[in-house]
Amino acid sequence: MHLFSLLLFLSLGALVKFVSAADSDWCYTGCEHTPSHWANIPGVSCGEKRQSPIDIVTSNVQIDPHLLNFTFVNFSSKHAIKSINNTGHTVKCTLEDHQVEVSGGGLDGTYSTLQFHFHWGKTEHHPGAEHTIDGHRYPMEMHIVSLKKGFSIQSALQESEGLAVLGFFINATDDGDMSGPWAQLTSNLTNLTEVDVKKNISINDLIGNVDLTKFFRYMGSLTTPNCSEAVVWTVFQQPININKKLVQRFLTDTGLMNVYRPTQPLNGRDVFASPATSLPPSHSWCYEDEACDYKPSHWHILPHSYCDGKRQSPINIDTGNTVTDKHLGAFIFTKFDDKHAIKYITNTGHSVKCVLHEDMVEVSGGGLGYVYSALQFHFHWGSNKSDGSEHNVDSKRYPMEMHIVSKRKDLTLEKAIETPNGLAVLGFLIEAKNADSHSSEQETHSTSDMEAWKKMTSYLSAIHKINSKVNVTEEISIDDLLGDVNRAEYYRYNGSLTTPSCNEAVVWTVFKEPVKVDQDLINMFPTHAGYHNVYRPTQPLNNRKIYTTSASSAPVPIILLLLLACLCSFSHVYQEEDD
Ligand SMILES: *[C@@H]1O[C@H](CO)[C@@H](O)[C@H](O)[C@H]1NC(C)=O
Ligand SMILES: *[C@@H]1O[C@H](CO)[C@@H](O)[C@H](O)[C@H]1NC(C)=O
Ligand SMILES: *[C@@H]1O[C@H](CO)[C@@H](O)[C@H](O)[C@H]1NC(C)=O
Ligand SMILES: *[C@@H]1O[C@H](CO)[C@@H](O)[C@H](O)[C@H]1NC(C)=O
Ligand SMILES: *[C@@H]1O[C@H](CO)[C@@H](O)[C@H](O)[C@H]1NC(C)=O
Ligand SMILES: *[C@@H]1O[C@H](CO)[C@@H](O)[C@H](O)[C@H]1NC(C)=O
Ligand SMILES: [Zn+2]
Ligand SMILES: [Zn+2]
Repeated sequence: MHLFSLLLFLSLGALVKFVSAADSDWCYTGCEHTPSHWANIPGVSCGEKRQSPIDIVTSNVQIDPHLLNFTFVNFSSKHAIKSINNTGHTVKCTLEDHQVEVSGGGLDGTYSTLQFHFHWGKTEHHPGAEHTIDGHRYPMEMHIVSLKKGFSIQSALQESEGLAVLGFFINATDDGDMSGPWAQLTSNLTNLTEVDVKKNISINDLIGNVDLTKFFRYMGSLTTPNCSEAVVWTVFQQPININKKLVQRFLTDTGLMNVYRPTQPLNGRDVFASPATSLPPSHSWCYEDEACDYKPSHWHILPHSYCDGKRQSPINIDTGNTVTDKHLGAFIFTKFDDKHAIKYITNTGHSVKCVLHEDMVEVSGGGLGYVYSALQFHFHWGSNKSDGSEHNVDSKRYPMEMHIVSKRKDLTLEKAIETPNGLAVLGFLIEAKNADSHSSEQETHSTSDMEAWKKMTSYLSAIHKINSKVNVTEEISIDDLLGDVNRAEYYRYNGSLTTPSCNEAVVWTVFKEPVKVDQDLINMFPTHAGYHNVYRPTQPLNNRKIYTTSASSAPVPIILLLLLACLCSFSHVYQEEDD
């Protein structure tokens, strides 16, 4: 990234003041401010927390289904390169203004491509790409730099994603084309100043047959001072293979060597990969409708998987085949009424999850035998056209299902997932509110019921991106979301987590009465998350018993609830009973 020369090129005198690091203020070797001292240059961001380049650890990257195909405009134009010059830090090819563009690929908007340049090392044995993959450094790296449309460079530098850089690794091969586009490009690197190029080369000629659907994505910075943290990075997985004699020309013909910045700490940042990227298997599970190597029928071959065990979840609950258990009494819900229990809401790429404050919300009773502390709740859904609960009741699937996941209070999480009753999950089926019953009075009633769901779903648009999260500041309690659903009637069985590694550590509770939610709020889940049908198919029962609360026993807590509700509005309750 060669910002200063970029600015000079644009001759925007006013911007020079803004950029405090002049080209001569820094270097890779042989001056005061080498990379480890860039942070000391006044006014730069080089010492901050989202710096580039990074080492991409493929076992830690997450697939992001939004990282679909790029759209490249004029990448195949043979007239787009305006000039090529040696900046003293790199070789840079400047493009004609406003001709080359890139969008798609999960980028937010269209970016206008300004220039591309290179980073390299010293010898064959001292490679000089900036990014590394699992510690491997390629000989060279090419950066194609684009500016978000509608932004000046100055304003883009203030934006988290003001610049988009496409990084291509360059691999040196023993035998490679010595007369093609790379040979042309490197044919006159000697005495390069600001030579006009009429070389008849397009960007696509240089990229060659790299698979552009396979790439990594993360938020980072310019890799030269000022190191502005304004770059959405794309690093393609496959390298461009060129003859090693051409790689050598960058060193010998420019007099520059080791022009790359060392990798920087990740500081908790997430690195994503496009769905087409080939990754270690443990990171590529998905549901039936999505593209990946490990769909539900293959989850069992993932490393450390229990997914082909004998007590898997979800199941179909055959109500004619359940056993009444009088020990299945009332639950004790602690802090379910706390309107500040939800810490944040996040999009995991497989679900929307509300993470609770630690050691706050608890559940006990209900035949569980232990106190469990609630960690999070999340949702499973279908599409706008199909249902997506995980559990079925008499082979009926419901539109959605909510899972409140709790861990035995006396165990650590690591221990709990290895213990047959280490986790307790409360499953609430979710049904669409009957759209037909719209008396005006009911309208008012259902609005107040839906208030909590509206508040919660209002966050969905803010967590559009995989792994994004926002703190929940609205007052929403779990009781608000569950409403007056009957919590005394439920099914109980021994099962598993319903996502890999499918640990058989879950005591399941599936409540009989579904929670009713407005259809348009249900639809917001697939619409905003961008993925749908996120449920595991039902699993064989394998002789397990499904227990049930006895239907006849008077559900005391519900009567209390109704009494309370009556105090607020008698007609309200009456109406509900009518449904
Ligand atoms: C993405 O690009 C690949 C290869 O260029 C192509 O096979 C695939 O159909 C494209 N996908 C979409 C959704 O356009
Ligand atoms: C692509 O390049 C041509 C000139 O080669 C130019 O006329 C056209 O406007 C460019 N397209 C875009 C979308 O900028
Ligand atoms: C890089 O080039 C070497 C030959 O120098 C080759 O063996 C290797 O497969 C190439 N790597 C990739 C990923 O193409
Ligand atoms: C490069 O420049 C030097 C001095 O400016 C000159 O002596 C040399 O011949 C030039 N080389 C080429 C290939 O033009
Ligand atoms: C540009 O290169 C293409 C092949 O890459 C060739 O067909 C064409 O004649 C060249 N045009 C010029 C003006 O050199
Ligand atoms: C779950 O498994 C435990 C131990 O195997 C057993 O004691 C308990 O009765 C089972 N509960 C259900 C609901 O099947
Ligand atoms: Zn660069
Ligand atoms: Zn779940």
